[in-house]
Amino acid sequence: MQWLSFPEGENGTMEEASRTQASSTARLLRRATGVLGHALRGSRDELGLVESAANWLWRRVRVPVRTGMLGAGLAAFLLAAAPGKARAATDCLACHADKSMTDASGHSIAVDGQKFSASIHGSLQCNSCHTDIKGYPHPDHPAPVQCRTCHVDEATALTGSVHADGKEHPCTSCHGDPHAIFPKTDARSAVYPLNVPRTCGNCHSNDGMAKKHGLPSVYPSYMDSIHGYALTEEGLLVAANCQSCHGSHNILSHKDPSSPTYKTNIPKTCGNCHAKIDTEYEAGIHGKALASGDLKAPVCTDCHTAHAILQPTEAAFRMQSTPICGSCHSDKFTTYRDTFHSQLGLLGGYVETARCWDCHRAHDVLPATDPHSSISKANLVTTCGHCHAGANASFVQYEPHANSRDLKLNPGLYLVRLFMNLLLISVLTFFVIHTIMWLIRSRYEQVKKNGANGGNHA
Ligand code: HEC
Ligand code: HEC
Ligand code: HEC
Ligand code: HEC
Ligand code: HEC
Ligand code: HEC
Ligand code: HEC
Ligand code: HEC
Ligand code: HEC
Ligand code: HEC
Ligand code: HEC
Repeated sequence: MQWLSFPEGENGTMEEASRTQASSTARLLRRATGVLGHALRGSRDELGLVESAANWLWRRVRVPVRTGMLGAGLAAFLLAAAPGKARAATDCLACHADKSMTDASGHSIAVDGQKFSASIHGSLQCNSCHTDIKGYPHPDHPAPVQCRTCHVDEATALTGSVHADGKEHPCTSCHGDPHAIFPKTDARSAVYPLNVPRTCGNCHSNDGMAKKHGLPSVYPSYMDSIHGYALTEEGLLVAANCQSCHGSHNILSHKDPSSPTYKTNIPKTCGNCHAKIDTEYEAGIHGKALASGDLKAPVCTDCHTAHAILQPTEAAFRMQSTPICGSCHSDKFTTYRDTFHSQLGLLGGYVETARCWDCHRAHDVLPATDPHSSISKANLVTTCGHCHAGANASFVQYEPHANSRDLKLNPGLYLVRLFMNLLLISVLTFFVIHTIMWLIRSRYEQVKKNGANGGNHA
């Protein structure tokens, strides 16, 4: 059990910090044993015995406490040790192991004893959870189990989250069968990393109930993403699952500034795993603009999406992302579209041509005036040279955003365009007039010819 570690000071004395912890733990312990005693239905004497046993145990082993957990673990320990033991699992299973057992309304009330004893709670007694069952016959409808009694932290976090509604989101809505709960590191657990998407997807999918709440169905797009693929196809435990980005019990809406999915927190959330890229991003103009409070600056998900993340080497990404940069830099997008690079890209979806980030880089994007920028005068030869072997200072005179509509910026280009347009218009006008006159004339000739023929018949 992970909470059972024994941090012993070098000289064997208790440090100040752990002393304060000790007294609050003793209080906790007493509370826990109170619950315990209740469950035990023991006499006052037994209770006293249990309590002093607990205190004795505490003094020996200085268990560092994860709130609430200790009482639980101790319950398991003491229930097994205490005299006059309460209803043992075997007692309850004498009836409930019967697979065909149902309650009055036909709902199955069978419990798989083997699964239960293999589970993380296998060492607990049935009525450690079903606390109001104290003898037989027991109430037909015992009170609902309160997981909170032993897991205060998780229950409190859940209460403050988007899944706060206890009726709609009981603990078992994510943890599954209450009698077969496993630790999150166990492949049988519903919250084992490989199983998390399916667990959340039960509700957040096309068939799930989340759509009724006006939420998008994210599970299918996640499964098609690089993260979904890496996790579920390659079994890569370190790939992002829902929990990596959203948390588990404290999930908040992306509109909440304290959520890890709130716009300004996203680079850090992704950066937990993609650390180097986060550093580059923060050093770039977009990261700096965001840090200075410019919410119009893009974060990871503006360019990659949150759930449908593609591998950037995929053609689909390269084709999609140019318009994404362009959605904010529409002027540069227009001028890029006029250039050879873009025209080439449009021809049958030619992928290898220069996209925005091949010249500007993707994460450490910097303005031309910054000497470290990939598009600063000094670095252009290198930047273009990635694709144009032998690029030199004169080659990079070529303007990737030449604007033929701007007389001041590109006068030569402007005049050429003006001339070409005038030429085009005059040629077109000439031919249109020519054609119309030709039509009139041919019609006139035909009428004249018909007239002559008619005259012959008459
Ligand atoms: C003598 C047989 C018997 C024993 C022993 C027994 N139960 Fe039951 N239990 C039943 C029956 C019968 C019902 C169905 C009551 C009804 O008609 O709804 C039931 C119902 C329940 C329910 C409620 C199911 C529901 O639909 O709400 C729980 C929880 C429960 N038992 C837990 C326990 C626990 C825990 C123990 C051991 C401490 C235990 N039972 C021991 C016979 C037994
Ligand atoms: C970790 C806590 C926990 C333990 C330990 C536990 N149960 Fe339950 N049990 C639950 C929860 C949660 C439910 C769902 C209903 C509710 O919330 O009360 C439940 C439901 C039941 C039901 C109703 C049938 C159903 O599936 O809805 C029966 C019967 C039952 N438990 C018997 C047992 C028996 C017998 C044991 C011991 C072998 C046991 N329980 C141990 C938490 C627990
Ligand atoms: C929205 C889904 C969801 C709900 C509802 C939920 N959990 Fe969890 N729980 C998770 C996930 C996911 C993990 C795994 C977290 C991780 O991997 O760090 C987890 C882990 C845990 C752990 C292990 C914590 C640890 O850090 O070792 C406990 C204990 C736990 N949950 C108890 C509860 C209790 C008690 C409730 C009800 C009050 C509850 N959970 C409700 C999703 C949920
Ligand atoms: C009587 C106290 C008690 C109750 C009630 C209880 N648990 Fe537990 N639970 C424990 C103990 C003890 C452990 C083992 C702690 C450990 O080994 O870290 C545990 C472990 C867990 C774990 C695994 C934690 C991990 O390391 O991943 C989960 C998940 C969990 N409980 C969920 C629940 C849920 C859901 C409920 C309600 C249905 C519940 N528990 C009710 C005492 C309890
Ligand atoms: C039992 C069904 C269910 C499960 C399981 C579930 N959710 Fe939800 N979730 C909902 C519902 C319903 C809402 C809407 C809550 C509301 O607005 O009242 C919601 C809301 C959310 C939201 C907030 C959406 C927003 O911006 O308002 C996020 C994020 C979320 N869930 C993520 C998760 C993750 C991650 C998991 C798995 C760890 C999960 N959910 C498991 C049903 C579920
Ligand atoms: C790589 C990080 C990441 C992963 C993995 C992830 N999400 Fe999200 N999720 C986000 C971000 C960021 C948002 C905020 C909205 C946005 O940017 O689109 C979000 C939004 C949501 C929303 C609310 C949508 C809305 O517009 O209100 C739900 C529901 C949700 N996620 C559920 C899930 C579920 C379920 C999974 C697992 C199948 C999952 N997410 C996996 C990052 C992630
Ligand atoms: C829990 C860790 C984790 C988190 C959090 C995470 N990722 Fe990832 N991501 C990975 C892993 C691992 C891979 C590698 C998968 C592979 O190559 O098979 C990956 C792959 C990627 C790829 C594809 C990389 C490539 O070279 O093909 C992109 C793009 C990506 N993640 C973006 C994001 C974004 C954006 C976020 C935040 C919204 C994010 N990731 C959050 C772990 C994470
Ligand atoms: C302005 C748009 C934009 C932003 C913001 C952005 N990316 Fe990227 N990202 C890209 C592009 C474009 C590529 C493809 C680069 C390439 O193919 O050379 C890429 C590539 C990647 C890759 C693949 C590996 C690599 O180095 O090429 C990962 C992983 C990734 N980004 C994660 C992130 C994370 C995490 C963030 C946030 C900290 C983020 N990105 C922010 C556009 C962006
Ligand atoms: C969500 C909107 C958005 C997206 C998407 C976006 N940018 Fe930006 N970009 C900005 C903002 C805001 C600034 C900062 C303007 C300032 O503070 O001067 C900026 C600044 C720049 C600059 C510095 C020059 C300047 O005008 O200040 C360059 C170069 C740049 N972006 C290129 C790109 C490239 C390349 C992509 C795609 C990989 C991209 N941007 C995607 C919003 C965006
Ligand atoms: C072939 C390389 C190349 C491609 C492709 C390219 N750019 Fe540029 N971009 C440059 C160069 C060089 C400059 C600086 C000279 C200029 O303004 O023409 C520049 C300037 C810019 C600026 C202004 C920077 C500043 O500091 O003033 C922005 C914003 C920008 N580009 C965005 C984009 C976007 C968005 C795309 C994709 C639609 C794109 N670029 C495609 C090379 C490129
Ligand atoms: C991602 C690779 C890539 C980058 C980076 C790149 N280009 Fe290109 N460029 C191409 C491809 C592919 C073609 C079309 C095939 C060809 O003619 O070589 C092309 C064609 C051209 C052409 C027209 C044909 C020619 O070769 O004369 C010019 C001019 C040009 N690029 C200039 C530049 C300049 C200037 C830069 C740097 C600011 C640059 N390119 C950066 C891939 C790139």
